[in-house]
Amino acid sequence: MENLIERTAQHLAKCQYAVALTGAGISTESGIPDYRGPKGVWVKNPEEERKAYQIYDLFQKSPEAYWQESLENPRFKGMLKMKPNPGHYALVELEEMGILKAIVTQNIDNLHAKAGSRRVLDYHGNLAKLRCESCHSRYPVEEFDLKKIFYQERKVPLCRNCGYPLKSDVVYFGEPIPQDIATLSWEEAQKCDVMLICGTSATVYPFASLPFSAKNRPGVIIVEVNAEPTPLTQDKISDYLIQGKTGEILPQIVKRVKELKKE
Ligand code: APR
Repeated sequence: MENLIERTAQHLAKCQYAVALTGAGISTESGIPDYRGPKGVWVKNPEEERKAYQIYDLFQKSPEAYWQESLENPRFKGMLKMKPNPGHYALVELEEMGILKAIVTQNIDNLHAKAGSRRVLDYHGNLAKLRCESCHSRYPVEEFDLKKIFYQERKVPLCRNCGYPLKSDVVYFGEPIPQDIATLSWEEAQKCDVMLICGTSATVYPFASLPFSAKNRPGVIIVEVNAEPTPLTQDKISDYLIQGKTGEILPQIVKRVKELKKE
């Protein structure tokens, strides 16, 4: 483990353009369960996953029914109250050192932004935002009194730019990845010479295709930091896996990078 941390710190200290891809595993140490780990949401309650496939369809059929369901059975309750953990802060430090240029995250918990990361691409959307499917405008959710709009005004929140009904920025199963984010994320995978893949089972596409697009370029180093091996490990898409907790491993990597930078 130690020599893999050393190896990763060496790569990061020398690289031109590091990019991090993150998943639910980086937020479990903040108290947010992941989906497919031993105590994952889908593992403990497969019914939840089945229902998750129906939400986008509901919005398309009836924004009213979607907002009624969202307000009466809020999913991810309390998630936005959680706090970043040392894994998130380690990535902030790498960005402040000018090493990490972007984070592409599958997480909707807004914890990278809360920790202070500046360039974060929310590949599966962000619970703290609403989004217009028509003109792709996004708004902070706190700008809308959703309960008042729905229950008193008997309306659904509308885009201030084009008037189309808004939905959560969260990308539901079956919903396309917003084109702006998909393009920017692919570009980051094409630019990086080091890719850090932290806390993801790497099983959900198209996000899981990003490491492949980086792998195709000679000289790119792909490092996984994850509690367990993933298909990227097994298929040798990643150069190696540092197995363990992101909240413990990432700070050790950053500490060593700082020492190397001083030398
Ligand atoms: N440190 C490192 N790895 C961890 C930690 C931790 N503290 N905690 C959990 N993990 C690992 C798990 O072992 C698992 O391999 O993180 C991975 C999380 O995988 P998933 O639960 O599948 O989460 P993720 O990869 O982000 O899922 C992708 O699936 O349900 C959809 O939209 C949802 O964005 C999510 C997507």
